[in-house]
Amino acid sequence: MIELNGVTKYFRIGFFGIKKNAVEDLSFTVEKGKVIGFFGPNGAGKSTTIKMMVGLIHPSRGGVKINGYEAKDCRSRVKLGYLPENPNFPRGIKGIEIINYYAKLLNAKISKEEIYDSLKLAGIFYAKDLHAHKYSKGMTQRLALAVSILGDPEILIFDEPLSGLDPIGRKEFKDIIFRLKERKKTIFFSSHVLADSKELCDKIAVLVNGRLIKNEDTAAIEKEAESYAAEKINSAQNGDFHLTSEYNTSLEVYLYDLMLKNKKN
Ligand SMILES: Nc1ncnc2c1ncn2[C@@H]1O[C@H](COP(=O)(O)OP(=O)(O)OP(=O)(O)O)[C@@H](O)[C@H]1O
Ligand SMILES: [Mg+2]
Repeated sequence: MIELNGVTKYFRIGFFGIKKNAVEDLSFTVEKGKVIGFFGPNGAGKSTTIKMMVGLIHPSRGGVKINGYEAKDCRSRVKLGYLPENPNFPRGIKGIEIINYYAKLLNAKISKEEIYDSLKLAGIFYAKDLHAHKYSKGMTQRLALAVSILGDPEILIFDEPLSGLDPIGRKEFKDIIFRLKERKKTIFFSSHVLADSKELCDKIAVLVNGRLIKNEDTAAIEKEAESYAAEKINSAQNGDFHLTSEYNTSLEVYLYDLMLKNKKN
């Protein structure tokens, strides 16, 4: 459903316009009905990759295909829902007016019930008549989520969907992912929350400094993580090895160490 082939994206920076690679030679595929978690430190290139998938920016080299269409072809976006990194809505417009507007933009008849269902699913129905610029960060995130699931898209691409959500919201969002997964949707989401990797993802991809350093089934990575933890315990001089306090499982520690080891700065 999603196909990246040798994708490189550079930006020109500074007065002399020096090229800086944000993403380098990225190749992977996402199969239908799978949930993929995209992890990586700040500045790794996650949002750049996602923006190329949804056709907001174009690769400097290589190609991105969605549903068999090049990402720059608008047909690639027909069955696609996208939640951007920092959703932002214009001032002076109510939540319901914003979602109605997006519903009209879609090339499909969306009923009032469907719009209400999206708002309810995203947990923002109660604030539909409030101006969106008065929303809190998490409320804005929820409205953007409601917009992204409008029209029941087959592929959902979420850029840090959990950011700004309270613990209840995070749990609700995870439930939404599970529900979408049951309905065989293909979901690709980026996150910093390593703890979500295990329960949500069929596959985990890790990006560091613009390069993909891992892209495997969660079960396979979990196995690697178990052996990594066992090795660490064995090699600990005094025989006592503790997981970094912030992390609870060996998978989280493994992903954390993997990112740390590969990060240049
Ligand atoms: N428009 C741009 N012009 C110049 N450099 C850019 C531009 N957009 C992104 N970059 C650079 O590309 C790199 C990757 O940025 P990106 O936003 O993709 O990271 P990220 O993995 O999403 O990080 P975060 O976790 O903080 O959201 C960064 O070094 C960033 O400075
Ligand atoms: Mg980002």
